[in-house]
Amino acid sequence: MTKIAPSILSADFAKLGQEIKEVVDGGADYIHIDVMDGHFVPNITIGPLIVDAVRPVTDLPLDVHLMIENAEQYVEAFAKAGADIITVHQEANVHLHRTIQLIKSHGVKAGVVINPATPSETIKPILQDVDLVLLMTVNPGFGGQSFIESVVPKIQQISQWRKELGLSFEIEIDGGVNKDTARTCVEAGADVLVAGSAVFNKEDRKAAIDAIKNAY
Ligand code: DX5
Ligand code: ZN
Repeated sequence: MTKIAPSILSADFAKLGQEIKEVVDGGADYIHIDVMDGHFVPNITIGPLIVDAVRPVTDLPLDVHLMIENAEQYVEAFAKAGADIITVHQEANVHLHRTIQLIKSHGVKAGVVINPATPSETIKPILQDVDLVLLMTVNPGFGGQSFIESVVPKIQQISQWRKELGLSFEIEIDGGVNKDTARTCVEAGADVLVAGSAVFNKEDRKAAIDAIKNAY
């Protein structure tokens, strides 16, 4: 069963606890938290303080997506704040194995992310070390952008490599996922769908999550 990870980037931050409760009650599987530093991406969002604040709100896994430079400097703080999964970008981590091992050393699941224009081959050497592969279907930085269709063959490629190599990491898709694009992702091999605006920009969050789930 494909999992849904609502991204709180599109939530109302003035009532974040309530917003999270609504998606938990609506059938969310993970809570996706977008961390941006204004350097790797042109936006600034959330730090460990917010992860710490939302930790008591739900038992669901907190899926922390780091869109930051020098990720290794902040892994411990996000782990201590209560992250269950930490994903880091291949493009921003020159010593990728080191960062992945560092995340795992804190007892947190580790994932690698690539942008739409980054080839799958760049993460092949790390596949055996990760718990999750996150494929961006928009250029990271903002919610509400359009799904980049040309990423779909990369989902298929990563899924095929997973099978060939006998690995069991999850494949997560992030960016422009809604009831119209979800099916393509799932058919290509996705296990987890991040959805920000498609969930939080709708009044009824349960109906929004159901609409995505019913699309595949
Ligand atoms: C984009 C973020 C996404 C974003 C998705 O940089 O990584 O998680 O919140 O938002 P939607 O679903 O609106 O494209
Ligand atoms: Zn994200």
